[in-house]
Amino acid sequence: MIKLGVLASGRGTNLQAIIEACKNKLINAEVSIVISDNEKAFALERAKNNRIPAFYVDASDKRKHEEKMDELLQSHGVELVIGAGYMRILSPWFIERWRNKIINIHPALLPSFKGIDAQRQAIEYGVKIAGCTTHFMDEEPDHGPIILQAAVKVLPNDDRNSLAARILRVEHQILPRSIDLFEQGRLVIEGRKVKILPGDSWLEKYSYPDVLYSEGY
Ligand code: GRF
Repeated sequence: MIKLGVLASGRGTNLQAIIEACKNKLINAEVSIVISDNEKAFALERAKNNRIPAFYVDASDKRKHEEKMDELLQSHGVELVIGAGYMRILSPWFIERWRNKIINIHPALLPSFKGIDAQRQAIEYGVKIAGCTTHFMDEEPDHGPIILQAAVKVLPNDDRNSLAARILRVEHQILPRSIDLFEQGRLVIEGRKVKILPGDSWLEKYSYPDVLYSEGY
């Protein structure tokens, strides 16, 4: 069973989706630690409610923040780090320590709409299709090799929040599935590309009819 360390800055619905997927044996993993840079993050409450060790790590000094996170992740035996709404840019130092072992979720079809409030960027730009992406983190924000993407329609009356909600429920699918693929040893990174080795699919067991999932889901 693979040990996960989850970094989260906010309400933690992606964390919750991972916890549920572990409980429901959709993935062979356990969340060993949750770390937040925000003392008030509801993600920390969710961790505690599930008896998962939860730590607030002050980020006023970036280097110290990352060193502490690294130390906690190591001491909890973490094998894969998940950025689940962790709102800081990790330094090259941290990325190097966890190279090819950090997966992030971004609420847009990368490389469109990197950075903050991607859903608002998508609405304001007027795109007709939006979605979400999981990727390995590298030194550049929202840039590393893409694992999975899923596309949803933008509807005529959508505002930022209604679109964000439609994207979020799919985030809750592709993030656990990406962990599953990693755990199964099916993700092969070749430069910018992630090759997904053949195996099972979640399309039959956990998908929505109005969503387009990339190969490997
Ligand atoms: C998600 O939309 C995620 O993609 C983005 O931040 C949001 C976090 O939501 N990076 P939650 O804290 O998991 O509910």
